[in-house]
Amino acid sequence: MLRRLHHDQPESFAFTPANMDWAEAQISKYPEGRQASAIIPLLWRAQEQEGWLSRPAIEYVADMLGMAHIRALEVATFYFMFQLQPVGSVAHVQICGTTSCMICGAGELMEVCKAKIAAKPHEVSADGKFSWEEVECLGACSNAPMAQIGKDYYEDLTGEKLAEILDAMAAGKVPAPGPQNGRFGSEPLGGPVVLTEGKDEELNASVALATAIGDTVKRIDGTEVPLRAPWRDRSDEKGDATPDTHAPKLSEGEPADETGIDKREAPVTPAAEVKSDPEPAEPQPLGEGRKPETLSAPREGGADDLKKIKGVGPKLEELLHRLGFFHFGQIAAWTEEELAWVDANLEGFKGRASRDAWVAQARTLAEGGETEFSARVEKGEVYDDD
Ligand code: FES
Repeated sequence: MLRRLHHDQPESFAFTPANMDWAEAQISKYPEGRQASAIIPLLWRAQEQEGWLSRPAIEYVADMLGMAHIRALEVATFYFMFQLQPVGSVAHVQICGTTSCMICGAGELMEVCKAKIAAKPHEVSADGKFSWEEVECLGACSNAPMAQIGKDYYEDLTGEKLAEILDAMAAGKVPAPGPQNGRFGSEPLGGPVVLTEGKDEELNASVALATAIGDTVKRIDGTEVPLRAPWRDRSDEKGDATPDTHAPKLSEGEPADETGIDKREAPVTPAAEVKSDPEPAEPQPLGEGRKPETLSAPREGGADDLKKIKGVGPKLEELLHRLGFFHFGQIAAWTEEELAWVDANLEGFKGRASRDAWVAQARTLAEGGETEFSARVEKGEVYDDD
């Protein structure tokens, strides 16, 4: 299949500020002179933001990495995961057409796509909402036939079921991904014969997480989960100077080595930038370490139940609120320096945040998972009165 740039290109491309920060964090993972190694994640993020890769997007990423445009174009046109033409505004549907799925009815699924979306793959439907393509094995063969829609897998499909899912998505809903025939996971159709005890969840772990994250067909603007890049130096954030982090930084044209990759300095920019729409919290006394970003009030939707973090009881939760922390994502984003500040400012509970590994727990909870302790809190089995 020929993979060429689309004939109709937009004028320009730019990462959202949050996606730019994310992209710069990815670049900072690589040693100086090797920033071009970040090409795939950056192109992927551009596609997640727009749905497809336009020429301006590819060139924008190339400029950020100090690469010749042709080298980024080579990458984008080589890998089939990159969409080089516009996709549906609601979803791009990828039907697995490899052996297991084909034997189990992928042909029927593709007929549904032809009837409901467009006669040919990579064409956008008349209403602009969907596009589709046939892809190679997506690794869910025991739940054949299946399709990836947006980020998630819809498995054990029939033509009828796929048509229902597309209709629901066209109406603005996102049906739960995973098996569509009542199976929990990939157990035998007649039901599991081993490991039959202790399963009282309704959804398997992958589907539960996908449902909790809820970004199946959403374009990614970078504000979905807190950015974590604790290895980044944040020392230049002190004072009033605001680093310009939101524009491509072109290289100086100096080749770093024989590969011809231009040299550029890994940017040093804010890492865990916590969205802080509400007014900043009142200034707090400075202790050791560095004060994290705080909020004066919970974001829309209300505060998280911080007592689900082992070691945080009602009193500590109250204290955390007073300090400006209301969400798991805020705690998950603390760097070591920031953790030191929090530990030093937990009056009456100094050192508790490190001792009980709040950051690791908060990461799990922020990603929609649960810990043994949070599950007990959820069931009302715990009363942790610090
Ligand atoms: S054959 Fe379809 S997922 Fe493997």
